[in-house]
Amino acid sequence: MKEPEKMPPPPPRQRPPSRRPLWIIVLACLVLLSLTATYVYRPHRLSACYLLRSDVCSPFREWLPPVPERSYTDDEVAARVVARDIVSMPSVNAKNPKIAFMFLTPGSLPFEKLWEKFFLGHNERFSIYIHASREKPTHVSPLFNGRDIRSDKVSWGKISMVDAERRLLGNALQDSNNQHFVLLSDSCVPLYNFDYVYSYLMETNISFIDCFEDPGPHGTGRYSEHMLPEIEKSDWRKGAQWFSIKRQHALIILADSLYYTKFKNYCKPGMEGRRNCYADEHYLPTLFNMVDPGGIANWSVTHVDWSEGKWHPKSYKAEDVTFGLLKNITSIDETTHVTSDEKRKVTKKPCLWNGTKRPCYLFARKFYPGALDRMMHLFSNFTAV
Ligand SMILES: *[C@@H]1O[C@H](CO)[C@@H](O)[C@H](O)[C@H]1NC(C)=O
Ligand SMILES: *[C@@H]1O[C@H](CO)[C@@H](O)[C@H](O)[C@H]1NC(C)=O
Ligand SMILES: *[C@@H]1O[C@H](CO)[C@@H](O)[C@H](O)[C@H]1NC(C)=O
Ligand SMILES: *[C@@H]1O[C@H](CO)[C@@H](O)[C@H](O)[C@H]1NC(C)=O
Ligand SMILES: *[C@@H]1O[C@H](CO)[C@@H](O)[C@H](O)[C@H]1NC(C)=O
Repeated sequence: MKEPEKMPPPPPRQRPPSRRPLWIIVLACLVLLSLTATYVYRPHRLSACYLLRSDVCSPFREWLPPVPERSYTDDEVAARVVARDIVSMPSVNAKNPKIAFMFLTPGSLPFEKLWEKFFLGHNERFSIYIHASREKPTHVSPLFNGRDIRSDKVSWGKISMVDAERRLLGNALQDSNNQHFVLLSDSCVPLYNFDYVYSYLMETNISFIDCFEDPGPHGTGRYSEHMLPEIEKSDWRKGAQWFSIKRQHALIILADSLYYTKFKNYCKPGMEGRRNCYADEHYLPTLFNMVDPGGIANWSVTHVDWSEGKWHPKSYKAEDVTFGLLKNITSIDETTHVTSDEKRKVTKKPCLWNGTKRPCYLFARKFYPGALDRMMHLFSNFTAV
């Protein structure tokens, strides 16, 4: 039995003179209360929406004022300030500025002899690092002897590929003379002589990282909302893996754990059912698009031919390797990017080096091991620029 129901209501503390003023006071209080509530709760709801981006929040977006510029998370503030200061750091005063050539390979390098030809006579201006992920390479050139770094397994398209790149950079950064860092594969060949490559890379202040916005399934289609709030869909970029970068940018890659961890967790083959994401095609383009977009060229100096539209780029056999082919590749002076959506939008841009149009490519892939002899034979001829 609930007794209180039968009890009379407690007498009001102050009896109003008439009914109308009470009604007005109550109404005024309600209005005031709702205004206060709106004022107090609005910012929380906004930031919660911003962080969660869930559908629960979307109805409020209809009538709330537009979301202001997002405020960065603590990790982001730290990551961005570190990147900014590294970028503006004066470069280490190197006595003998060198280029680090970093080879990412499963095993032996089929073009060692060709590279030896490329390097000979330039001893103080380069260093070599080899990451062999499957088997210990046999070296045929003394320049490559003892240049293997401690390595680990690399799975195609997985974060272990990025880990190998970081391992190479870590080793190469130990030598403070190394001012520029080139990532190469076992199927890469040089297209110019050493002097040309050295001045092309060293006499400009930008890094050659391929980077473009592809709204299609092989571009933004690989983005995951799990990367929020730090990486928004509009930050997402795509590019080829083979980079050539300044020392400051190499340091940023080693210093980054925030964005790297996002890619490690949310960009891998076979994510969320059937969706594939390949960290080596998105991590660096996205990272540098966010922290130093003006510091990258947006194209890679390593040529590859995707024009056949297959799953793998065109590979050159011995009989394909002619003076004409190499002249064709070295005469290209604009980059081409094609989106992967049904529009297949083609974007061509001139390769602007320090403001002047120049050939885009210094290296090329993918060459079959059998092409070595022809490359050796042609090398002196076509590199005599
Ligand atoms: C690059 O450009 C800057 C300014 O435009 C110029 O001072 C510098 O000499 C250029 N470098 C080369 C190698 O031409
Ligand atoms: C590169 O140098 C040019 C002038 O030499 C300067 O205008 C530009 O801001 C520099 N870029 C970067 C990313 O440092
Ligand atoms: C690369 O692209 C970004 C924007 O996507 C741009 O800000 C930057 O200037 C470009 N780099 C060069 C060297 O043009
Ligand atoms: C060189 O390019 C021209 C024009 O694009 C093409 O017709 C020719 O077949 C190419 N030659 C070789 C050897 O690739
Ligand atoms: C190299 O160049 C010379 C002179 O241009 C030419 O006579 C020779 O046939 C070339 N060799 C090859 C292998 O193309």
